[in-house]
Amino acid sequence: MMDVEAVRNLAAKLDLWTVEDAAHAFPSAWRKASDQPWQFCGNQTGAVSCFSFYANKTMTTGEGGMAVTADGDLADRMRLMSLHGLSHDSWLRYSANGSWDYKIVAPGFKYNLTDIAAALGIHQLPRAEQMRQERERLARWYLESLADIEEIELPPEPNDRIHSWHLFPIRLRLDRLKIDRDAFISELKEAGVGCSVHWRPLHLHPYYEQTFGWKPEDFPVATAVWQRLVSLPIFSAMKDAEVEFVLETIRGLCERHAR
Ligand SMILES: Cc1ncc(COP(=O)(O)O)c(C=O)c1O
Repeated sequence: MMDVEAVRNLAAKLDLWTVEDAAHAFPSAWRKASDQPWQFCGNQTGAVSCFSFYANKTMTTGEGGMAVTADGDLADRMRLMSLHGLSHDSWLRYSANGSWDYKIVAPGFKYNLTDIAAALGIHQLPRAEQMRQERERLARWYLESLADIEEIELPPEPNDRIHSWHLFPIRLRLDRLKIDRDAFISELKEAGVGCSVHWRPLHLHPYYEQTFGWKPEDFPVATAVWQRLVSLPIFSAMKDAEVEFVLETIRGLCERHAR
């Protein structure tokens, strides 16, 4: 999570309100200092916090997500706009006390979570923290077991965050390796370790290159970090033997290709 207070202060200074992209952050938390209480993402950490339940997220409904707010007016507006601007959804129209008559009261969208997806999600919600704890166990295992490998840099673990551990990105120290990131990933994949890169920066996508004329050197930090990134597998159902295999494979790869 971001430093919530820094974002809040900036928003207050500029008279803005914040919509938090919390796509990866369910559940996670922030605190100002170790003697301060935790503030969980979505519990008024922004005016609105948006979580993603897409298939590759920490909990999933297949597609969709959840927007949360403590502001009743905003909540009403989001409900209205997410279903065509209809005065009544189907449940209200067909229930015993509902009316068949509905009106379009605003130019809305079709952004509602389907009932079937919601039925999946409602049973995932109580499991989310237990699944996070399992990912945290795996992340700690990675952190401890890979700490002595000089060819890689591990993600930080600040003590004022509860991390969702949606991803476990490492950065290769390319100056200590004889191969580049792409070759590193190819070898991992050949060995049977699924991995990815999160993410290709915007300025390196053809659409943005062509539309805005952006070049890799226009954003040198993002370009350099991207060339070093590899996300290792991490998911709550990951078995201990699978973690051991990933660790073994990475160690072997680094030994073979160390400069
Ligand atoms: C940071 C971030 N924000 C938003 C999204 C979009 O989420 P969704 O696919 O649920 O619209 C994603 C999807 O991966 C994401 O990574």
